[in-house]
Amino acid sequence: MSILLTGGLGYIGSHTAVELLEDGREIVIIDNLSNSNIEVKDKIEKIVTDKYAKNMKVVVGDVRDEKLLEQIFSENDITAVVHFAGLKAVGESVEKPLEYYDNNINSTTSLLKVMKKFGVKNFVFSSSATVYGRAKSMPIYEDFEIGATNPYGRTKLFIEQILQDIYVSDKTYNIAILRYFNPIGAHDSGLIGEDPNGIPNNLLPYVAKVATGKLEVLSVFGDDYDTKDGTGVRDYIHVVDLAKGHLSALKKLEENCGLKIYNLGTGVGYSVLDIVEAYNKVCGGKVKYKFAPRRPGDIDVCYANADKAFKEMGWKAERDLENMCMTSWKFENNK
Ligand code: NAD
Ligand code: UD1
Repeated sequence: MSILLTGGLGYIGSHTAVELLEDGREIVIIDNLSNSNIEVKDKIEKIVTDKYAKNMKVVVGDVRDEKLLEQIFSENDITAVVHFAGLKAVGESVEKPLEYYDNNINSTTSLLKVMKKFGVKNFVFSSSATVYGRAKSMPIYEDFEIGATNPYGRTKLFIEQILQDIYVSDKTYNIAILRYFNPIGAHDSGLIGEDPNGIPNNLLPYVAKVATGKLEVLSVFGDDYDTKDGTGVRDYIHVVDLAKGHLSALKKLEENCGLKIYNLGTGVGYSVLDIVEAYNKVCGGKVKYKFAPRRPGDIDVCYANADKAFKEMGWKAERDLENMCMTSWKFENNK
């Protein structure tokens, strides 16, 4: 019995691979390396040691390639799929909408078609808090209205809708839609973490590069939001906690739960300046910053209510902001 992880060499996928292997599971990863590196495979093997490394197969290829998927499903006893593969940069999605619709939507429909052919009905999907758009109040609950403001977000909305439709057509599917808040941090080993190409768009990778001196200064986008210090507030969650959420979701599917939607966040909001302060504590005050205008499309505050995931799956985030910054800093120095 194997679990297929699409995009399993990426940031969240690689941490989830470690958690699943250490839980004694067999996994198959398919990744086209468009935003990752084959060396991540060796790093996962190093973390989990020989005892579990033998339970992992890696296929380099594209999820839209149905022939390849069919080969994977016929050669392995796949019982569930965790679908991470996708493009994820909001700004880029505005410039290249077709690439986003093609990659994110078509990879999902290819996967679902091949799953159907092989009678595999257990599916975990990487959705995002971005589907809440500008939420009416905080914290955000799963039953809040959804809507997207950019092509990336719309791909997540469409895929959620596709999954709902599939479930309506066949109630024997078990589907977990996981809406991630802001994953940061890295594995305790310092071997895997978030490593975007070029200049990072997201806050933590940018802060980490300023701390190592690879970038000069952080621009804090906006100091006039309606928050305690005027800077944007987000629900940052440690990537290892998030990875463990996938194990909990897979266990939930094993109970034949039908279609479920869960927020994966901590329920706590931190401002950009909180992050700078916490990072400076672990790196020795190297993060210089300046205030800059608001980034178009940004919201002031976003944090989850994650009680449903705790009540129904027994999952909750355990790690604090200091650990998120410490592990990020360790990974950054280890690269
Ligand atoms: P990532 O870019 O690090 O990982 C995605 C992986 O998928 C990469 O390794 C990439 O090479 C691979 N990939 C992309 N398209 C593919 C295709 N067509 N076929 C095969 N492989 C393909 O991203 P991540 O941060 O690990 O995010 C994983 C998922 O979680 C994505 O769907 C993303 O939209 C979603 N998500 C991420 C965040 C975040 O902040 N990181 C927040 C919310 C949701
Ligand atoms: C962004 C995406 C979101 C996606 C998430 C994870 C946008 C508008 N939203 O969320 O859809 O799911 O990434 O990939 O892009 N900040 C700075 N300076 C920087 C970078 C960020 O001040 O150089 C601030 C932002 O204004 C924000 C906070 O840091 O207040 C977090 O930003 P970021 O890490 O990009 O995440 P989100 O915008 O929450």
